[in-house]
Amino acid sequence: MQRAAALVRLGCCPRTPGPWGRSQSSAAAEASAVLKVRPERSRRERILTLESMNPQVKAVEYAVRGPIVLKAGEIELELQRGIKKPFTEVIRANIGDAQAMGQQPITFLRQVMALCTYPNLLDSPSFPEDAKKRARRILQACGGNSLGSYSASQGVNCIREDVAAYITRRDGGVPADPDNIYLTTGASDGISTILKILVSGGGKSRTGVMIPIPQYPLYSAVISELDAIQVNYYLDEENCWALNVNELRRAVQEAKDHCDPKVLCIINPGNPTGQVQSRKCIEDVIHFAWEEKLFLLADEVYQDNVYSPDCKFYSFKKVLYEMGPEYSSNVELASFHSTSKGYMGECGYRGGYMEVINLHPEIKGQLVKLLSVRLCPPVSGQAAMDIVVNPPVPGEESFELFHREKESVLGNLAKKAKLTEDLFNQVPGIHCNPLQGAMYAFPRIFIPSKAVEAAQAHKMAPDMFYCMKLLEETGICVVPGSGFGQREGTYHFRMTILPPVEKLKTVLQKVKDFHIKFLEKYA
Ligand SMILES: Cc1ncc(COP(=O)(O)O)c(C=O)c1O
Repeated sequence: MQRAAALVRLGCCPRTPGPWGRSQSSAAAEASAVLKVRPERSRRERILTLESMNPQVKAVEYAVRGPIVLKAGEIELELQRGIKKPFTEVIRANIGDAQAMGQQPITFLRQVMALCTYPNLLDSPSFPEDAKKRARRILQACGGNSLGSYSASQGVNCIREDVAAYITRRDGGVPADPDNIYLTTGASDGISTILKILVSGGGKSRTGVMIPIPQYPLYSAVISELDAIQVNYYLDEENCWALNVNELRRAVQEAKDHCDPKVLCIINPGNPTGQVQSRKCIEDVIHFAWEEKLFLLADEVYQDNVYSPDCKFYSFKKVLYEMGPEYSSNVELASFHSTSKGYMGECGYRGGYMEVINLHPEIKGQLVKLLSVRLCPPVSGQAAMDIVVNPPVPGEESFELFHREKESVLGNLAKKAKLTEDLFNQVPGIHCNPLQGAMYAFPRIFIPSKAVEAAQAHKMAPDMFYCMKLLEETGICVVPGSGFGQREGTYHFRMTILPPVEKLKTVLQKVKDFHIKFLEKYA
């Protein structure tokens, strides 16, 4: 009866009587009416709406997987449905995901991972002894000798020891303490965890976090999420995206009017800008952090990705120690590494570590407490990180193959970095700084004023408009510079150099042709 009453209220009147006083067909019609209407009628107001949701989460933006990537997905579906386009595939040059672009995994890493995952393979003659030795060591340190058990929140002990040994070797003997190593779910997790414990205060005493512009958008996203204050310092495009300490001074002084600058984030080698900082520059930055009492975050996930023969990677930790005890025992520093980049490109394992030094002992306790709420990072990711920091050494059975594979990936990336720079610089209206390291080109593009007006008419940033057109006309997916931040009135895009050489050449040629046509169209 209640249903019938509801239907009457809805304006559904049964015509002929059936078993329940109505005809079957009208009952079916009613049922379908109820089904159609019920979701609206019976839906209470949702608790979670755009108005009621966490405004900090709403403010988060992440360009690398933003609207351009959604559009790329739509175009891929259209291609699958047979819709004709001026291209046959979408090339996703938007994200630093090497294996998605066809890079082959490093054999040794996958052998150890296979052995750890399925230990019965330890009896197989198909696996080299050095891989078995690594796998046994990792498994023995895991609860129940299994990768499937939780680990300590800070990470598996022997893996933290291996990370510390790696850092010591990398930094020419500067000691690293396993107790200062925290294994993480990729570098992203470490960065957001450290920022989480650093942010406090309200109004003018709210924590200011200094980040480079252009930046990797994880930083702005986490800052939004934590409702911290983003303090921009601009990298010097005219000078190969160098970091200038005078610019840091300007930024910190201006920020002091409205927040409490407490953190300085550095990305070296840079994403999206590809610069590698000189030792002198790192020293200057450390001195500045010491002077201004800033907590340093050194994002060093591209430490193996240095291509320019004139550049060398120096870790902040090494330089800090070499500057003497006044710095090495005072400056608070968290540095980050990952399995995702380098020559291994194991993004999906979500392996990473952070080394945090000069942390107040009570804060260390707070950090471990915070980490323990999430139980532990994926143990498979920790194992992958172990292999990155503890690879085969000369004399071991797998060394030769490992070395060959590693050098082949890095050599190819170096070639592609140069090829990209050279080709972009041949195009009128595009200027590209040398790609000294990392995995991206961030060329500056000239966008004619008519195109800027067209973009405004579409309510788009001019470089978003450019990238959308590029995607629609060529299938190439790159990220607009506005997603990373750029000086007012300048436009850029970020493109990875990860596609295989021949494909990259095609991509670059297509960008060139598109750009020339774009300039003509909006001249
Ligand atoms: C500069 C920088 N930091 C951190 C990350 C995050 O890496 P992960 O996959 O280790 O979380 C990336 C990923 O592209 C990056 O480019």
